[in-house]
Amino acid sequence: QAEDGYRLWLRYDKITNAQVLTSYKTSITELVLLGNSPTVTASRKELQTGLSGLLGIQLPEATTVTREGALLIGTPENSPVIASLNLTTSLQAIGKEGFLIQTLKVQGKNSTVITANSEVGVLYGVFHFLKLLQTHQNIQKLAIQSSPKLTHRILNHWDNLDRTVERGYAGFSLWEWHKLPGYIDPRYTDYARANASIGINGTVLTNVNANALVITPAYLEKVKALADVFRPYGIKVYLTARFSAPVEIGGLKTADPLDPGVKAWWNAKADEIYKYVPDFGGFLVKANSEGQPGPQNYGRNHADGANMLADALAPYGGIVMWRAFVYDNKVPDDRAKQAYTEFVPLDGKFRDNVLVQVKNGPVDFQPREPFHPLFGAMPKTPLMVEFQITQEYLGFSTHLAYLSTLFEECLDSDTYAKGPGSTVAKVIDGSLHAHKISGMAGVANIGTDRNWTGHPFGQANWYSYGRLAWDPYVSSEAIADEWIKMTFSNEAAVVNPVKQLMLHSREAIVNYMMPLGLHHLFGWDHHYGPGPWIKNKPRADWTSVYYHQADSLGIGFNRTVSGSNALSQYFPVVREKFSNPKTCPEEYLLWFHHLPWDYTLKSGKNLWEGLVQHYYMGVDSVRGMQKTWNSLEGKIDADRFAQVQQLLKVQEKEAILWRNSCVLYFQTFSRRPIPAGYEKPD
Ligand code: GCU
Repeated sequence: QAEDGYRLWLRYDKITNAQVLTSYKTSITELVLLGNSPTVTASRKELQTGLSGLLGIQLPEATTVTREGALLIGTPENSPVIASLNLTTSLQAIGKEGFLIQTLKVQGKNSTVITANSEVGVLYGVFHFLKLLQTHQNIQKLAIQSSPKLTHRILNHWDNLDRTVERGYAGFSLWEWHKLPGYIDPRYTDYARANASIGINGTVLTNVNANALVITPAYLEKVKALADVFRPYGIKVYLTARFSAPVEIGGLKTADPLDPGVKAWWNAKADEIYKYVPDFGGFLVKANSEGQPGPQNYGRNHADGANMLADALAPYGGIVMWRAFVYDNKVPDDRAKQAYTEFVPLDGKFRDNVLVQVKNGPVDFQPREPFHPLFGAMPKTPLMVEFQITQEYLGFSTHLAYLSTLFEECLDSDTYAKGPGSTVAKVIDGSLHAHKISGMAGVANIGTDRNWTGHPFGQANWYSYGRLAWDPYVSSEAIADEWIKMTFSNEAAVVNPVKQLMLHSREAIVNYMMPLGLHHLFGWDHHYGPGPWIKNKPRADWTSVYYHQADSLGIGFNRTVSGSNALSQYFPVVREKFSNPKTCPEEYLLWFHHLPWDYTLKSGKNLWEGLVQHYYMGVDSVRGMQKTWNSLEGKIDADRFAQVQQLLKVQEKEAILWRNSCVLYFQTFSRRPIPAGYEKPD
């Protein structure tokens, strides 16, 4: 049977290691799981599918513990046995969505208990338990406690109503609008299972460049149908709100957020939406950015716009995620500065149910960016981080890039907002400034491709995103370890090399595309191949200054006080560190500095030689990845092996194209030779 990757990390193939299998079969002998609500049913189904696959047994069900090796599952509400247990950790400590997995004696029998305060918490525990088996963990003495550190863990689909996906590279949108609500594709349930397995609890169905039609009744009944499928899995549905909707679909003359008629229109719209979807999550809004309508069209600000929508949703407990990705290409200011300039003055002006959603870096999902200066700079406003899981700027679904390291690098960055240790993770989990709501958004890489993400390794980015949204302090290495075991194999001879390959894959791309802090060298508008030569497009935020700013004297974007002074937006310790090229981490060097070609790098090489070295290292890394992958032949299924092998070949070819294009182009400025020993670029 062909292995098409459809099952993602929820593969549940029979465990082949005899010792592990025997031990699990002794520890898991019956299932005690009461109730038949949709969420309990989801837990039961997942367990039965998982255990019959992994262990090859149909677990008998009982209403109470009758033998050694019982799996006792439920909440104190739906299970009197659980209510009577002496748990070693109090359920109060784990919140609404957390879970406990404990080995306990129940009615004198050794049992494994999975419990939580809510049925969804139990479902999360079930997925965790199955993961323990999938990754061959010892389950003899379990004492696991886990709760999400963020309240809102959300996928953002940039899906259009015609089923194209903006910056999507894995086929078309999953949402079959024309067949909904009558036809429910079973894939929606698998989508929900995958998300629940990593703790994602919200999904924005539509593109940030929003179409107002989605909030008309004809579409709301389709949205309701999807919400009904996702609900048992703890996933709320959100929609993008087009700011000009009152004019476009409401027949009003204005969308001015302070206009009473406009407010009334949105209030009525919220009432209507909640009739279809009683637990509707809320709105995601892109306003006054890249030509999208917004409150500034009426002389109002972002807070005026966000608050109007927030007021409409508040009676129902909905939230507004207002994006800070704002820039105007007609404003002749460094684009990296515009969000901070517009948003910091509004700190404290947003309603309690508004989160401001900030991209990880100040420009736009580049292969590497320093963290966004807004993190830590709006203490009175809960800030979400927005990551891009889809690889708009990292080789689409053709190049292998494990993005967890990118996410982790941002989360670990220290803003110094409240002294050392004020990491982005602490800003967004709400702990730094004591916020009650918190969140992470990930622009999805999912589509109708059989394996969901196009590149088989794209699945790892969906997976790691969810894991980090649950706990932004987990390491990319730990995430890769479990993902590989669930997705490919538990054999060390697979896990170790694949992990190394993954952990270095993003850096390889940085090197062959835009090393040392260079950014946005992409071809005009497609964001795939190289185009550093596009210098003089008619855009105020770009003209004369395409981001590398190479000239005969040197290369890099001067964001110090003598340049755009974007550095002034960081807290003093960071600002000082980044302001001095000697203390600025070299991976951000040309992001902040324009430096002469003979500037000496830490390696002792001059800037030109160092730059060339990075470009060549990038290609070498891809060749290394190919070697590693080729060594796995026969250790994993032939289908996925061949798919990745072919993609890596394409990646190598394109890495060479990137390297040669950039090196040869920059050489026209540096007028220096390619150092000896490198293959000739052509
Ligand atoms: C990028 C991307 C756009 C998208 C925008 C956004 O610029 O290229 O397609 O709309 O980000 O995040 O709003």
